[in-house]
Amino acid sequence: MATFLEQVETIRQAALAELGQAADLAALEQARVNHLGVNGQFTSLMKQLGALPKEEKPAAGKLINQAKVELEKILGEKRADLELKASLPKEPTDFTLPGRRRTLGKLHPLTQVTEDIVRSFRKLGFVVADGPEIEDEYHCFDALNTPADHPARDSQDTFYLAAPAPAPNAAPGTPKRQLLRTHTSSVQIRVMKKQAPPVRIIVPGRVYRRDNADATHNPTFHQIEGLYVDRNVTVGDLKGTVDFVFRELLGADVKLRFRPHYFSYTEPSYEIDFTSPLVRKMGKDWLEIAGCGMVHPQVFENVGYDPEVWTGWAFGFGIERIAMIRYGINDIRLFYENDVRFLKQF
Ligand code: DAH
Repeated sequence: MATFLEQVETIRQAALAELGQAADLAALEQARVNHLGVNGQFTSLMKQLGALPKEEKPAAGKLINQAKVELEKILGEKRADLELKASLPKEPTDFTLPGRRRTLGKLHPLTQVTEDIVRSFRKLGFVVADGPEIEDEYHCFDALNTPADHPARDSQDTFYLAAPAPAPNAAPGTPKRQLLRTHTSSVQIRVMKKQAPPVRIIVPGRVYRRDNADATHNPTFHQIEGLYVDRNVTVGDLKGTVDFVFRELLGADVKLRFRPHYFSYTEPSYEIDFTSPLVRKMGKDWLEIAGCGMVHPQVFENVGYDPEVWTGWAFGFGIERIAMIRYGINDIRLFYENDVRFLKQF
């Protein structure tokens, strides 16, 4: 016949197995009642203890207590585990489902316009790229073929950081003064340096200029940059793309006009003017809305693309400008004051 100590061990093993197999909280509770409850196996072992010869009692009592402590600990851990499992959703989560409609608050009008622009470009296969707002002269100017004596680099126009730190990824021997980016064009350089062509990106983001605040200027505003690089890209592609997006944004009755211009990073370069009933309502014939052009071969050289193989176009336009036209707003500062009476209208 098994000794008392062997019986304790058998019951301990059985209890361990039952706890281990419990697949839910109910099964776990049943295992607890069976073994550790008032009428459970261990309680009856304790009762039998009294009948043992005196010299066997201490060892047997100790063994029972150790087993109980061990089982209580395992029970606690298993319960926490099963409770966590029970709180998780039964179905796997589908992260592609549309989100719930927000019950409170609204997106800022500039966010709404940005999202609309991004949505339009996505239809044409563009993806969103991003870059730092604290930039260096290399990415903001040099690599874009903007010479050191260009007025855009003047501290009258550009916010420079007080303590210059060496910028990451700057080409050897290039100036490393840090600044707040004056345009999103710097991201063209960052993307092309990282990625082999073809490239089809748009870059929405905040830019900074030392413009004095008045009704149409603010020291920070937002731009969307676009860059398309592939073989045999033409000005026709540029026009078609811009045309498509502006019709989507501002209505089928918009008209665009490409006016020759100069940018150091494109050749030829244009400014895009546009008109629509909305513009005429604001008392204007044409509004300048974007700069653009065919990527300058020197820019391709600077990022290591072969200009004999690759062609491309780029553009940049102001998001506030588009939002102002779309909503008939004549003071840019309204966007930044966060007056709920203003924001509620969008
Ligand atoms: N960076 C210009 C600006 O801030 C806009 C611009 C013009 C961007 C021509 C371009 C471009 O990519 O090709 O005014």
